[in-house]
Order: sequence, then C-alpha cells, then structure tokens
Amino acid sequence: MRVLVIGGSGVVGRPTANALVQRGHQVAILTRSGTAGPAGTEALRGDLTTGAGLEMALAGVDCVVDCANVTTLSKATAVRYFTDTTTRLGRLAEAAGVKHHVVLSIVGIDKIPYGYYVAKLAQEKAVLDGPVPSTILRVTQFHEFAGQIMAQSSFGRFAIVPKAVTQPIAASEVGLALAEVVDDGPRGRVPDIGGPRVEYLPDLARQFVRHRGERKTVIAVKLPGKAGRGMNGPDQLPGPGAVLRGPTFADWLADQ
Ligand SMILES: NC(=O)c1ccc[n+]([C@@H]2O[C@H](COP(=O)([O-])OP(=O)(O)OC[C@H]3O[C@@H](n4cnc5c(N)ncnc54)[C@H](OP(=O)(O)O)[C@@H]3O)[C@@H](O)[C@H]2O)c1
Repeated sequence: MRVLVIGGSGVVGRPTANALVQRGHQVAILTRSGTAGPAGTEALRGDLTTGAGLEMALAGVDCVVDCANVTTLSKATAVRYFTDTTTRLGRLAEAAGVKHHVVLSIVGIDKIPYGYYVAKLAQEKAVLDGPVPSTILRVTQFHEFAGQIMAQSSFGRFAIVPKAVTQPIAASEVGLALAEVVDDGPRGRVPDIGGPRVEYLPDLARQFVRHRGERKTVIAVKLPGKAGRGMNGPDQLPGPGAVLRGPTFADWLADQ
C-alpha cells in the first residue's frame, strides 16, 4: 500500500511512518518544513492549513494518516485548525481516490471540556462526516507529553505543569498501533489504547528533569473549572474495553 503520514516528522508521526515501512508499505511523509522522515520514507513539503502540496502528495495514495498538530491555548484556534484541516484533507483525499483516512485522537475528549479536547472532538466529527471511509484511534497522553508540556511552559528555572492524572503510552507503541489500523482498513472508532500504569503528570515532569540532569523546579498548577477537575480525574484514563500496551514510563525513560 502507499501510505501518506501527515506530520511524519513529529513525536508520533515519525514512529508511525517507521512502523509502516517495517510492515512493507511504501511511505511518504508530509510536513510544512519538508523535514526528512525515518529511513525508507519519502519527505514531501505541504501545508494542511492552506492545502499547498496536498493534491500532489495524495496522488496514488491508498491510506492517509493524520499525525499533524497545532500548539495553541486558544480553543477557537484549535477548533478552526482541526475542523478545517480535516475537512480539506477529506475532500482532497476523496478526489485523489484515497480509500482510508486515519485520525489519531485522545481518550476522554468527550467528557472533559478543555479547549484542545473540544477541537479534537470536532476533528472526529469532521472525519466521520467526511467522504472517505475512516478510522479513529483514541490514545492517552504519550510518555513524551511531559517533555512537550515543559518545552512550552518553562520560564527560566521553573516549569509549570498541570495537575493531571494520565495513563501514558510510548509514542512508538502508538506508531505500531496506527500501522495495525492502516492494515485493518476503515473501521470507524476502534478500541482506545493507553499505557500500563496510572501516573501523575507533575511527577513524570520531575522524573524527566532528573533524567536530563537539569536544575529545573516543576510547579504543579490546578487548571481552573470543569476542565481542570476533568484532567485530574478518571475521565482522562482509559476505560473498560481499552487495550493497555507498551512499557511503563520509568522503563521507557531509562531507555532514552
Ligand atoms: N502529545 C500527546 O501526548 C498526544 C496524545 C494523544 C494524541 N495526540 C495527537 O497526536 C497528533 C500529533 O501530535 P504530536 O505531539 O506528535 O505532534 P508534534 O510532535 O507537534 O508534530 C506535529 C507534526 O505535524 C507537522 N505539521 C504541523 N502543522 C502542519 C501543517 N499545517 N501541515 C502539515 N504538517 C504540519 C509538523 O511538522 P512541521 O512543523 O514541519 O509542519 C510535525 O511533523 C495530534 O493530533 C495530537 O492531538 C497527541
């Protein structure tokens, strides 16, 4: 199969593209920067927000996997981004004869009214309403997430990290799961996946800091309102029927 991984240079896009190559697929990645992907992939330049480069990138593609992301604290910006890019991608994919559109989503987005989660729910609706048969895989936060948060919220020696429970999973494991989803063909919503153990996000951030030998103080803050309560409760965690896989955070970190 020819598979296009949008965002194939990112935290989850890269291992996804790699897992697809290992399964024998012909894989291209598309990013705005045109950054090289893992060995065996073709790097293409394009932009989901304008549509530039997409028509050419989708020619001859059987399955498109969307691993792109937007970094914003604005709910309106996130909703606009995920709705518009998913709708545009679906329309252009249909015109190109693509048979399967895969979206990576997040556990708990239908229960927690956090702006970014509202946007991911809008993305799920856009792909389900779209013209190409689809699969949605919801996963918990990645093991890499604590590091991603600190990269955005560090001020000098301090890092602000939300008080949140999570059952994180290695992005490499999500990449393997997405490659399985590609081979299974369009299935709608498939069972959620998560990691093996419930963790507390500020503790993961502190373990990261120690592992890197940094002198950084992690300050745990409670997010306000219902979203804050949701993030720090069971709605963030994989429910019954979810599949738990991959290493614990501690084992994963020791390998980094
Ligand atoms: N992080 C988590 O814990 C987590 C958990 C569950 C689900 N997810 C979902 O996983 C997906 C990927 O997240 P991530 O953390 O792996 O993202 P990431 O590391 O920030 O990577 C984003 C990728 O998308 C590309 N990209 C961004 N804007 C683009 C655009 N307009 N057109 C084309 N490519 C674009 C980036 O490359 P360029 O900058 O070069 O364009 C990069 O390759 C998101 O949908 C997110 O909601 C994340």
